[in-house]
Amino acid sequence: MSYEYITVASDEAVGVITLNRPKILNALNLQLINELVEAMEQFDHDPSIGAILLTGNERAFAAGADINEMADASAVEIMKRDQFAVWDRMSRISKPIIGAVSGFVLGGGCELMMNCDIVIASETAVIGQPEINLGVMPGAGGTQRLTRAVGLRKAMEMLLTGDSISAKEAWQYGLVNRVVPVEACFSEALKLAKRISRQAPLAVQVIKKTVHKAEDLPLQEGMDYERNSFYLLLASEDRKEGMQAFLEKRKPRFTGN
Ligand code: HXC
Repeated sequence: MSYEYITVASDEAVGVITLNRPKILNALNLQLINELVEAMEQFDHDPSIGAILLTGNERAFAAGADINEMADASAVEIMKRDQFAVWDRMSRISKPIIGAVSGFVLGGGCELMMNCDIVIASETAVIGQPEINLGVMPGAGGTQRLTRAVGLRKAMEMLLTGDSISAKEAWQYGLVNRVVPVEACFSEALKLAKRISRQAPLAVQVIKKTVHKAEDLPLQEGMDYERNSFYLLLASEDRKEGMQAFLEKRKPRFTGN
C-alpha cells in the first residue's frame, strides 16, 4: 500500500508510522488522517506486529488540523464529512501506540498525541491546543482527553488561553511519559515499543483495553471489567507458557494464543 502523507515501515515487531508533510509542519488534512488510520489498522491485523510507533519530524509532530482545508468549509460541509469518525477508529486500535513527539504538537497534533498510549517527548516539544486563537475549539478530544490527563484547571488554562506548554511541564502534568534530548527521542520510543512488542500479545491488548476502561467506567464497574479480563487471560496458552517458563527459570516463548 502506498501513502502520500505518511511513511510506513517495520522494525522487528514494531510498526513505525511517520507523518510526512514536513513543509507545512505535518498539518493534518483528511487524507493524512485516513492514511494514518488505514496503516494503524493494517498493523493491528498483522500478527507479526506487537506495537505501533507514531512519530513526526524534529520540527513538528503535527501543528494541528490543516487550516487551509477548514478555512472555507461551512459547518454543514464539515458535519457531512464526519471527519472525526475516522478518529474513533483510531481509538479502537487494540495494539499499543507509542508516540515519539518533537517540536510543534498543537491542536489536532496534541489530540493525536493523546491518542497514543505512551508518549516519549523531546525537550523541544511545544504542546498545546491553540484553536481558541482561531475562534474555534478542539474537535477530536482536546477538551475531554486533555482534561482527563492534566486535570480541569490546567486544561481550562491551556484551552482558554491557547498557550502551549513545554515538554517538561507536560511531563510534570503526566501528559507525556518521559522527556529526552531530541536526538534520542525516536530511539528511546523504538526501544520501548520493541520491549512491549515482545510481551504476551493477548495480555498487552487486554491490558490496554482495560486501562482505557478506567477513563470511562465508575470504579466498581471497572473492577468487574478487570476481573473478567483477568479470567480471560487465564484461559490463554501464553499464561501457561509464562508461568511454566518462570518455574523452569527460562525465558517465555509467547505465541499470542
Ligand atoms: C495549515 C499550517 C499549519 C496548519 C503551519 N502551517 N501550521 N498549514 N494548517 N495547522 C504552515 C504555515 O502556513 C507555513 O506554510 C508552514 O506551515 C510553516 O509554518 P510557519 O508558520 O511559517 O512556521 P513558524 O513561524 O515556525 O510557526 C509555527 C507555528 C505556526 C507556531 C506552529 O505555524 C502556527 O501557529 N500554526 C497553526 C497552529 C494551529 O493553530 N493549530 C491548530 C489548528 S486547528 P507556508 O506555505 O507559509 O510556508 C485544529 C482543530 C483540531 O487543530 C480539530 C481536530 C482535527
